[in-house]
Amino acid sequence: MSLPLIFIVAVAKNGVIGGDNKLLWRLSGDLKRFKALTMGKPMIMGRKTFESIGKPLPGRQTIVVTRDTSWRHEGVHVAHDLAGACVLAQEVGQSMGASEITVVGGAEIYRQLLPQADRIEWTEVHLTPEGDALFPPLDPKDWRESAREAHLRHPEAGDEADYDFVSYQRITNGR
Ligand SMILES: NC(=O)c1ccc[n+]([C@@H]2O[C@H](COP(=O)([O-])OP(=O)(O)OC[C@H]3O[C@@H](n4cnc5c(N)ncnc54)[C@H](OP(=O)(O)O)[C@@H]3O)[C@@H](O)[C@H]2O)c1
Repeated sequence: MSLPLIFIVAVAKNGVIGGDNKLLWRLSGDLKRFKALTMGKPMIMGRKTFESIGKPLPGRQTIVVTRDTSWRHEGVHVAHDLAGACVLAQEVGQSMGASEITVVGGAEIYRQLLPQADRIEWTEVHLTPEGDALFPPLDPKDWRESAREAHLRHPEAGDEADYDFVSYQRITNGR
């Protein structure tokens, strides 16, 4: 049986997820949640998002999507199209005993894979920054909010905004 495809994303109130290939906020609670949601699982990401992180994250298997057939990085799986990335993620996920496959951005990858996503773990960031990377709008006929947890910022931990953890469940058949 194929593993479900889970998006993990932090989105500002205006749909912005990043700018100049960087995140635009610091939220320690969100970083912790990202780690918890991805640990022990394959993560599919675009080459630009990988470059902004700079290295494979421990305890996870990184699958980078790039059209550049000469691109390599130690400790990273490479795919040259999204179908190939999904097949590879299934194989890697099965071999590591993962319960699901995660998709962690950026904007290009989210946009192209959204029709195949089963669930979205969305951090709603209470900011409206300017940025060039946006999450595609969710069609309410495809998605329903299944959980929401509000969090106030902890400035002492370096949080720059309040945020909500929201889960969206697909209500139509994506795949
Ligand atoms: N807030 C969040 O949760 C979050 C999460 C992740 C990223 N981000 C932000 O998102 C931004 C990056 O997003 P982005 O859209 O610019 O870049 P991206 O999606 O990370 O990567 C784009 C690259 O992926 C490769 N690619 C895309 N589609 C492909 C396909 N169909 N087949 C093969 N390769 C493909 C190409 O690499 P090549 O050019 O090498 O061919 C393309 O340039 C940054 O600002 C980052 O901080 C935010």
